[in-house]
Amino acid sequence: MKIAVVGTGYVGLVTGTCFSEMGVHVTCVDVDERKIEALNHGIIPIYEPGLETLVHKNMKSRRLHFTTRLEEVINDVDIVFSAVGTPPDEDGSADLKYVLDVAHTIGKHLNHYVVVVTKSTVPVGTASKVKAVIQEELDLRGVNLDFDVASNPEFLKEGNAVKDFMSPDRVVVGVESERARKLMARLYKPFMIVSDRLIFTDIPSAEMIKYAANSMLATRISFMNDIANLCELVGADVNMVRKGIGSDTRIGKKFLYAGCGYGGSCFPKDVKALIKTAADLGYPMRVLKAVEEVNADQKIVLYRKVVDYYGGDEAQLRDKVIALWGLSFKPETDDMREAPSLVLIDLLLKAGALVKVYDPVAMDECRRRIGDCVTYCPDMYQAAEGCDALMLVTEWKEFRMPNIDTLQHKMRGRLILDGRNILDGEELKLAGFEYHCIGK
Ligand SMILES: NC(=O)c1ccc[n+]([C@@H]2O[C@H](COP(=O)([O-])OP(=O)(O)OC[C@H]3O[C@@H](n4cnc5c(N)ncnc54)[C@H](O)[C@@H]3O)[C@@H](O)[C@H]2O)c1
Repeated sequence: MKIAVVGTGYVGLVTGTCFSEMGVHVTCVDVDERKIEALNHGIIPIYEPGLETLVHKNMKSRRLHFTTRLEEVINDVDIVFSAVGTPPDEDGSADLKYVLDVAHTIGKHLNHYVVVVTKSTVPVGTASKVKAVIQEELDLRGVNLDFDVASNPEFLKEGNAVKDFMSPDRVVVGVESERARKLMARLYKPFMIVSDRLIFTDIPSAEMIKYAANSMLATRISFMNDIANLCELVGADVNMVRKGIGSDTRIGKKFLYAGCGYGGSCFPKDVKALIKTAADLGYPMRVLKAVEEVNADQKIVLYRKVVDYYGGDEAQLRDKVIALWGLSFKPETDDMREAPSLVLIDLLLKAGALVKVYDPVAMDECRRRIGDCVTYCPDMYQAAEGCDALMLVTEWKEFRMPNIDTLQHKMRGRLILDGRNILDGEELKLAGFEYHCIGK
C-alpha cells in the first residue's frame, strides 16, 4: 500500500514513520522546505524518543520519503493523510487554513480514487468542508471522479509518540463508505495483530471523540489542581487524596496529578476550540470554561509562592536570581507550546528577577522563542548555582533525586518550589531548605 502524509510535524512525522515501519510505502509532505531538506539529510526536526532510529532505518529501506510537492505523489497513493497544524484562531476556534489549503492542493491535482483522511484535530464538520473544497476544485477542472473523506484523530502523546502509535489503546476511524472502511482497516491491520482496537464510527463522532477525550483529560488535571489548592488551605495532602480516589476503579489512577498547570500543543487549544464550537451553536460549555480558568491560574501558582516567600511584595524579586528546572510543557519532548515555564519566565523577568534555566532537551527551542533574556545553563546544578530560589517546572526524570549536598553548596538561597510534586520534601527540609510543592 502507498500513502502520503501531509504535514511533517509531531503527528505527521511519527505517523508516516510508523506506517513505513509496518511495510507501507510512505511519502511525507511539508511546505517547509528547510524541514524537508533536513529530513532528506536524516536530520530530525523534533525530539521524540525512538523516532530518529526509525526514520533512518525506513529511509534506508526506501519505504520513507520526504518531499515538498504533494502534486507529484497524490496520484500514486491509495490514502492521503492530512496532519497539518490547526492552531487556535483569535477567537479560540481551530484555524482550518492549513487543512483547507491541503484540500485545495489535492483537488487541483487528483486524478484517481483516494481516501483523504484528516488526522489533525478538527471541529465537527471539517471533513465535509474538506470534501466540498476538493469537489469544488475537481468541478473547476471538469474532472469527475470518486473519492472519500475520513476522520482518523490521533491520540499519541508527545514524548511517547512512537510507542503510542505502534501500540495504540484504540484507533478511531470515521468513515462514510464501505470502500474507505476496507482501505483503512487494511492499513491498520498490522497494528491490530494482538487485539483489534480499531473503532469505526461516523465522521462527526470521530471528530468529536478527539475533542471530548482531550477535554476530559484537561478536566481531570484542572479538577485535581483545584482540589490541591483547597488541600493547602485545609491542611490535607493532595498526593494522599490522589491515591485515595484513584484506587476507585470508576475514577482510575491516571491523570490525577496536581501540578503547575497543563500546556502543550493540544489541551489548551482543543479545550478552547470545543468551547467555541459550542458557543457558535448557542451552547455554553460551563465545565470547560472553568477548566481553562483554573489552568490559567495554576500556571502562576509557583510565581505566587515565590512572591509570598518574599513577604507578598513583588518588588522584592528585583535582582533575585531564580532558577528554572524544566522548560518543555512535559518531559521527553522539546515542545514548549503553552508551557507554564514561559508564563513563569515572563512574570519573573517583569518583576526584575534574573532567570537561569536548564532543560535536558528544550534549550534550543526556548532560545528560539524568547532569545537571550534568560541565562541558559549546561546542567541543572549550574542553573542552581548562585540562585535565591529554585523552581522545578517540568518533571524530567533527572530532577527527581538531586544531589542535596551539591544544591546546598551551589544555591545562595534556600527556597525550593516543586511544581510537579516529585522531590522529597522531607529530605530537603532536613537539609535546611524551605520546600513548597502543590497541594500540601
Ligand atoms: N502534537 C501532538 O501531540 C498532537 C497529538 C494529537 C493530535 N495533534 C493534532 O495534529 C495536528 C498536527 O499537530 P502537530 O503538533 O504535528 O503540528 P506541527 O505544527 O508540529 O506540524 C504541522 C506541520 O504542517 C506543515 N504544513 C502546514 N501547512 C501545510 C501544507 N499546506 N502542506 C503541507 N504541510 C503543511 C507545517 O509546515 C508543519 O511542519 C494538529 O491538529 C494537532 O492538534 C497533535
